Amino acid sequence: MDRGFAARLDASDPLAFARDRFELADGIVYLDGNSLGAMPRSVPGALSDAMHRQWAADLITSWNANGWWELPGRIGDRIAAMIGAGEGQVICGDSTSVQLFQLLTAACRLRPGRSVLITDGNSFPTDQYLADAVGRMLGLTVVRVHPNNLGEYLTEDVAAVAFSMVDYRTGELFDAAGITAAVHDSGALMLWDLCHAVGALPVALDDLGSDFAVGCTYKYLNGGPGSPAFAYIAARHLTNADLPLTGWHGHRAPFDLEQQFEPSATIERARIGTPPLLSMLALDAALDAFGGVDMAAIRTKSLALTDLVIMYADSELAGCEVSVVTPRAHERRGSQVALRMPHAYEVCQALIARGVIGDFRAPDLLRLGFAPLYLRYADVWDALVALRAVLTEGEFRRPEFAVRSAVT
Ligand SMILES: Cc1ncc(COP(=O)(O)O)c(C=O)c1O
Repeated sequence: MDRGFAARLDASDPLAFARDRFELADGIVYLDGNSLGAMPRSVPGALSDAMHRQWAADLITSWNANGWWELPGRIGDRIAAMIGAGEGQVICGDSTSVQLFQLLTAACRLRPGRSVLITDGNSFPTDQYLADAVGRMLGLTVVRVHPNNLGEYLTEDVAAVAFSMVDYRTGELFDAAGITAAVHDSGALMLWDLCHAVGALPVALDDLGSDFAVGCTYKYLNGGPGSPAFAYIAARHLTNADLPLTGWHGHRAPFDLEQQFEPSATIERARIGTPPLLSMLALDAALDAFGGVDMAAIRTKSLALTDLVIMYADSELAGCEVSVVTPRAHERRGSQVALRMPHAYEVCQALIARGVIGDFRAPDLLRLGFAPLYLRYADVWDALVALRAVLTEGEFRRPEFAVRSAVT
């Protein structure tokens, strides 16, 4: 294995054309698209149009003339096509945290008399915090269970189970089909957090029979910092999902301006208030980067990229106290590789100084994310060589790399 091997993979890469759809500075290898995706070239023009034509010139008429009102549902349908959901079940808006609160509450309210809400004690903090908040509000007991150990906890007391499809730290992809089926066998409802799955691997929400799902759009969907999240409600729950945040955009007839809230009978009931239009228009343009791209091709390249990293770690980093935390089995791997090592924070900073951008997850993980649309194998090879140099030459010991910033 050498750089030539990586270059040959680039030469036969069917997704190679997509890199040009992104603005990426020379000399940077961006391995953090699982935190904030790179900027698609389609975005600045769309934002300029949003500001100069839609906002400045068309003003308030844009709600009708430029389709602002329909945008949350229109983007929702675009995302639905990427997560195996039929139209009319996904809405775009608000943050993942807000959507978790909305859908966890609705799920538990659909199972009255059941007193337990299950979350994963290893999942991203906001998923756990919101589960706790919903538990407190509805008088439920929140139980933390690892997705691989769910079986014994699925009693008739469980109202809902909420897991991330991919573990944000280890990159483990869970057995979504088996888990969803087991949850349903127990009579409970299933919510999937797709933050680390959407845009990175094929998801088949309808086929899974998933009840609810949420996800963010600023990672593999490249929607930009703070771009709005999405919520999926399976069609069978659309008329009875009792969502707690009853903003006027979710009303059956918002412009009737009635005193009492009556939810829309469609996915529109999951709207809350006025959405962040500029961010949403940026996201709409960003999704064009997936035009003509098959999710299966993304998955194939994602696995080849992560295979390359794991092979390199096994052969070249063996003496560097580095261990691969991410599962080796393809069917259990998301689109990232987490490497456990001493001084992971300092190593991450030293890599950034060399133009290789990954991130650190406490206490000891260097997390490298792989966005197949814009990564080249040869660049990944160069990043790995840089990692080896940082580790073997002790570069990470420089005092400036130990300084902790607010965001790690
Ligand atoms: C699994 C998961 N859920 C939620 C979030 C973030 O939620 P929010 O978009 O509300 O900040 C993240 C962020 O990285 C995440 O990894």
